[in-house]
Amino acid sequence: MSEETVELGPEIDPRIFDSKEFQKDPFPIYKQLRDHHPIYHDRFHNRWILSRYWDVDGAFQDNGSYDRAMYKADGPYDFGSRHVFGPNILEYGNSDEHRRLRNIVAGQFVGQKLQDFIPMIHQISEEVIDRFIDSGEVEIISQFASQVPIRVISNMLGLPREDEDTFVTWYQDLIAGLGFGGEHLMRGLNARNEMWDYIDPLIKKRSVDPGEDLLSRICTAEIAGSRMSSDEVKGFVALLLAAGGDTTEKAIANMWYHLMYTRPDQMELALSNPDIWENVFAEMMRFDPVVHAQFRYTTREIPLYNDVIPERAGVILYLGAGNRDERAFKNPDTFDILRDDLHMGRENRSGRYKDGKNGHLGFGIGQHFCMGYAMARQESAIACSKLAARVKKPRPKNMVHPGISSPSIDSGGFRSPEELIMEFDK
Ligand code: HEM
Repeated sequence: MSEETVELGPEIDPRIFDSKEFQKDPFPIYKQLRDHHPIYHDRFHNRWILSRYWDVDGAFQDNGSYDRAMYKADGPYDFGSRHVFGPNILEYGNSDEHRRLRNIVAGQFVGQKLQDFIPMIHQISEEVIDRFIDSGEVEIISQFASQVPIRVISNMLGLPREDEDTFVTWYQDLIAGLGFGGEHLMRGLNARNEMWDYIDPLIKKRSVDPGEDLLSRICTAEIAGSRMSSDEVKGFVALLLAAGGDTTEKAIANMWYHLMYTRPDQMELALSNPDIWENVFAEMMRFDPVVHAQFRYTTREIPLYNDVIPERAGVILYLGAGNRDERAFKNPDTFDILRDDLHMGRENRSGRYKDGKNGHLGFGIGQHFCMGYAMARQESAIACSKLAARVKKPRPKNMVHPGISSPSIDSGGFRSPEELIMEFDK
């Protein structure tokens, strides 16, 4: 991480981070942070902010100094007891328990295991498109983006297809449960409990009589003789529906939004070249990724830019800001699916790319690097290229669009447009 001194600019009023203005367009504030406050102490919210590409990248990779967990792994807190998903890997920070849980399942979402599910992703994408293709119009979020990932993940898990609509409802309620307020929380908890009751007999059965599905693999996967407990499996399934469903849904929506409204001149290329959708995915994950921020807690004092972050301080890593850093990318505020300075292929968990280009930070990096990165990329690219192949002369229904926003980007809220209507010739 850089030790360079920085020219201080105008003060930032920390209440801006709670404003609608910031939720809609955080990029001017990101630039101010990067240029003049690369280490920013937000006294109003009692936290620190990092925003430059190499500082965010460095903090993600520095497990000795930045931990994701709020509680100590060996302390009295009962992990999962307060989380709407139940015990799940997101709560475990950098502990050995995190490594154990991650190692049990990480291999299920990459390589041949993932390839086994690819024909099913093609089939589900086609089925979803069949539902609206004769109408000449699609609301991309509700009719397409929110339909494909949840059906794919529940299918991968081997959950009965006739119950798919119920999973879609549980999934929407689980996501709502991550929002603020008691009503949201109760909605999430009710869905979780119903889902757990539903899945309990399936876990029991597949633990002793496994099939080829992902749930069986999760129930029986062993690392050094250790399996996940039944509660850990349930927590993991809830996390998968949400982490795997909601994020990919918003990724698909954002890809179409940027082609339709930010770079309509690049739409033709995407319609005629199915392989280019991998580029659209990578550039979307850089330009305006689904997740803009991740939270960490310092485990020691960290000197940086003539300041010091104290031990046990909360730090926001603004990966959405790092991705727009002109120190890492040329013309960072331009969305360009052909840019030559972004690594467009498969993401790395750590280290730099052999092509010498920088990667986007949209999946995090290091120990908590997204486990579903390969699946999200392939699923988004397949679903979008299928839609592109089937719509004739697609165009936005409304020439003016309110743009992408987020309910609360500041709390890690996922960004996407609320509605996205596309017309096409029948
Ligand atoms: C475009 C879609 C996706 C985005 C933008 C995304 C984003 C992220 C990010 C930023 C992290 C890092 C969290 C941190 O550093 O604290 C993460 C972790 C994670 N993601 Fe994803 N994700 C996506 C898709 C998926 C999918 C499809 C799955 C599963 C099938 C998944 C499962 C996970 C899990 C389990 C973790 C926690 C990993 C750990 O702590 O070791 N994600 N994701």
